[in-house]
Amino acid sequence: MKQVQTNGKFSKIGFILATAGSAVGLGNVIRFPYIMGDSGGGAFFVIYLLTILFIGASVMLAEMVVGYKGQAGAVSSLEKLTTGSPGPWRPIGWVISSSSNIIFSYYVILLAWMITYIGLSASGGLAHEPAAADAIFASTRENLPRTLLLSILLIILTFGVVSRGISRGIERLNLILMPMILLIFGGMFIYAATLHGFGEALDFMFKFKWSDITMKVVVSAIGMSFFTLSLGSAIVLAYSASLPKGSNLVQSIGYVVLLDTLIAIVSGIMIFSFVFTYGGSPTAGFGLVFITLGTVFSNLGYLGQLLGVVFFSALFFAGITSAVSMVEPMLKAVHYRFKVSRSKAAIALALPTALLTAIITLSFGGYFGDINLMDIVDYILSNVLLPMGGLAITIFVGWFMDRKVVEDAVDGKLHGFFELWYIIIKYIAPLLIIIVMLSLLGIM
Ligand code: TRP
Repeated sequence: MKQVQTNGKFSKIGFILATAGSAVGLGNVIRFPYIMGDSGGGAFFVIYLLTILFIGASVMLAEMVVGYKGQAGAVSSLEKLTTGSPGPWRPIGWVISSSSNIIFSYYVILLAWMITYIGLSASGGLAHEPAAADAIFASTRENLPRTLLLSILLIILTFGVVSRGISRGIERLNLILMPMILLIFGGMFIYAATLHGFGEALDFMFKFKWSDITMKVVVSAIGMSFFTLSLGSAIVLAYSASLPKGSNLVQSIGYVVLLDTLIAIVSGIMIFSFVFTYGGSPTAGFGLVFITLGTVFSNLGYLGQLLGVVFFSALFFAGITSAVSMVEPMLKAVHYRFKVSRSKAAIALALPTALLTAIITLSFGGYFGDINLMDIVDYILSNVLLPMGGLAITIFVGWFMDRKVVEDAVDGKLHGFFELWYIIIKYIAPLLIIIVMLSLLGIM
């Protein structure tokens, strides 16, 4: 019985690494550099840091408070903690929890491609020039049987790890993979510092011009801060429900935000160093990693093969630690709400997830005409469901939770800043999220 109990809780370092493992993912390495390139570098960076600090970290604390005090999945926690009627919070809890599971259904496809690219790097199969690299990326996407097979294996792996529980599954995986990710990115960063494009990369990332700050830059910085910190989809909430009593929430957030930002900066500088040294465009979008870097690696001979394997493996590890976090919210919600075991909940959830993954995969084979389902689902989630999840949580903590319970969870760790945080959660964050949503949807 004792063992079952401890398996249900994180250790202090385990919680920090698992939450950072969720935050550090494909977003840091693929999305951050290209959005930065798209938004003019330095200006985006400054706004991004400010939003991470004031909005991102604040919303993260709100999610943590709900999980930590609720000690259950989002559905049961919201129901338990509201001072009003629990009625509306039950469906809201389900919607928030399911959004991360939906993200997972296409995130595994990206991870499946990553495995393909590890193989291509190892065998020297990457193209030497951009047009051919484009063709390889296209054929990777269009190889449906391979994508499907790898995705299903990844779904089994992820649900398998998560069904083992918090400490034997999620925590153990992160304790192994997170140090490896830090080591690989650290090593590659040092290598990048020896390239002649390093200075240009620094210039590009940190050159600040007031005129670069536009509404679009502000909006994409806020959107990015939500995605990169895994907010708005009950992940932080679900992990915090497995914190032992007496945890220091504020300190944990400090470490998580620091690690996440560090990895984004390090991988940004590294990728741009490669791009400026060997050619390519910093605004290449999604292709920046698969096409531009693939071409760079393939022109470096054996060194490139090694760099390719190491880089795509680190990216894969970063993605797996995020993927594991994405299935925990629904699993936990089902586990607590219907009182079934984690393994049963895992099986019940893995099947519909695999079905969704299969449907999204089929759209790469032209089965739905020109429609790219991954882009559509990603757009709806990032621009509608995640901000709405964040909005619901801030409104819940600011307006529907007993302030004393909130204060008790934060436990004086914010010192004089509690009042400021509370105002952010109650008024500023909800307002900003609404503005961002309207603007992303093109309404404002
Ligand atoms: N934060 C991860 C990344 O940067 C992705 C991620 C994990 C995520 N969980 C999430 C994004 C929940 C949105 C919501 O890649």
